[in-house]
Amino acid sequence: MTNEWTKALHAEAYLARMKDIPHRDEGEAALLSEISSDSRRVLDLGCGNGHLLSLVLAHCPGATGVALDFSPTMLEKARERFGGDGRVTFVEHNMDDPLPDLGSFDCVVSSFAIHHCTHARKRQLYTEIFTLLESGGVFCNLEHVSSPTRELHIRFLEILGSRPEDDDPSNKLLDVETQLCWLRAIGFEGVDCFWKWRELALLSGRKPSNTGATPSEPTRIKQVVVLRHDLKMRRGKQIAQGAHAAMSFICRRLQAQDPVSLDDFTDAQHKWLTGSFAKVCCRVNSEPELMEIHDKALDAGLEVHLITDSGKTEFHGVPTRTCLSIGPDDADKIDAVTGCLELL
Ligand SMILES: C[S@@+](CC[C@H](N)C(=O)[O-])C[C@H]1O[C@@H](n2cnc3c(N)ncnc32)[C@H](O)[C@@H]1O
Repeated sequence: MTNEWTKALHAEAYLARMKDIPHRDEGEAALLSEISSDSRRVLDLGCGNGHLLSLVLAHCPGATGVALDFSPTMLEKARERFGGDGRVTFVEHNMDDPLPDLGSFDCVVSSFAIHHCTHARKRQLYTEIFTLLESGGVFCNLEHVSSPTRELHIRFLEILGSRPEDDDPSNKLLDVETQLCWLRAIGFEGVDCFWKWRELALLSGRKPSNTGATPSEPTRIKQVVVLRHDLKMRRGKQIAQGAHAAMSFICRRLQAQDPVSLDDFTDAQHKWLTGSFAKVCCRVNSEPELMEIHDKALDAGLEVHLITDSGKTEFHGVPTRTCLSIGPDDADKIDAVTGCLELL
């Protein structure tokens, strides 16, 4: 996937126009108002020339900062900005890779950077940020998000004096709602979009105080059953279809292979089968929605079982796709696909 930002010219072109981003100062003011001025340790992801980190450190006089970026040009500019300020350390790191061990933070910020990662990586990064945060710590992402329609995207560009053909090929824009859902599913609290002007938005949430398990613990294995709510199936029919989906993972294996041993399963499946075999049931409201989840889960490399009812007792004899199961697998991996669905 394209990312132009390691090129010096790309970074320099941005630095020359960054002060012209409309309403930027409003977004930054909203971000600062989410941050406690007694924060002690702050991380800026995709720090560029350190502009945002300098605002946050001015707001939190007792804090130290870590400025992370993968662009040597940007890091050089950030070093120039902070000069001999011993409060700031610099980390050259590509956010496409898991974050290195940076210690813990009570504040993680980012501005206009994370949208250069793929959607799958964005979600994983949010999970890593959750893990890095102290209990009660805050994550503030002042971000470039997608417009709901192409017309609104074009209008946004017009206001910036730009056109779709000039779009940065490194941009991988995602809507606000999906990202808020992810943050909630990961475990952030008080999640909202606190400020928005067209494609610029402040997404923020806090790690609950005294939280116990972190979501990246490998023991969080689950299976998710997704059921069509629009079919208005009888309760008993719903349960039967859901059970059918949940059992398919094991029944299909038994039918295909004889004998089957626990060693034939993945680590996650093994843990699930020998543990509490956690299940969650969510709903969708149409067949296309069901199939969208089906395709996303397959793309994410998850085991999926789609149930097509023969229609003999309901659905007037018409074979009908009623539900599916995903997993069992790592809860974070499944949440990336089903995290936005309503529980049934
Ligand atoms: C639009 S600039 C924003 C810079 C700064 N945060 C600001 O608000 O001015 C995007 C920044 O993200 C950095 N960036 C993009 N992709 C990255 C990646 N995969 N890993 C680390 N940094 C990345 C770029 O080098 C650049 O500094």
